[in-house]
Amino acid sequence: MRRVAVAAAFVAVWAAAPLAIAADPGLKQVMGENFAGLQKILVALIDSRYAEIPAEVKLIHDHAAQLVQMVPESARGDRDQFLTYAYNLRGHADDLGTIAQVLAARDAGQDLQVRDELREPAAAHYGGMVTMCVACHNRFRPQPPK
Ligand code: HEC
Repeated sequence: MRRVAVAAAFVAVWAAAPLAIAADPGLKQVMGENFAGLQKILVALIDSRYAEIPAEVKLIHDHAAQLVQMVPESARGDRDQFLTYAYNLRGHADDLGTIAQVLAARDAGQDLQVRDELREPAAAHYGGMVTMCVACHNRFRPQPPK
């Protein structure tokens, strides 16, 4: 059951991702790594392995920072919107990383003040990241998927 749900989520992101024209190999590599990182984070969230999240989230943070330096041709006309999506992706990644750190400490018995309810905002920030992937692709991919 859990496997099915996780697989369905992968498919949902993948369906939003394919882009017909590859303009910039650097951008392509960053995106591929984002996609792989997102999958690892989802599995860690589902399994409550919060300690594994910050490193993966940092990768997406760094890539979002790189993205703002790589505005593609398709986004030249609306650079601000492209940057907004990239910065929002980075913000969600940062917030998820912070929450994951405190939850990892809680689960290790180090900080029992941390509230269990934080698990849901962590998931919401994951959703926020996925929303930014889809929003930016929807607006700026060079060609709609076939
Ligand atoms: C700020 C805009 C923006 C955001 C945010 C964004 N992407 Fe992209 N992504 C692009 C653009 C533009 C391309 C097209 C690159 C090309 O083909 O030239 C792309 C391409 C891709 C590709 C296809 C790479 C390939 O093989 O051609 C994948 C996979 C991908 N993105 C995954 C993601 C994931 C996962 C996220 C969220 C964590 C994400 N992207 C967030 C703009 C964005």
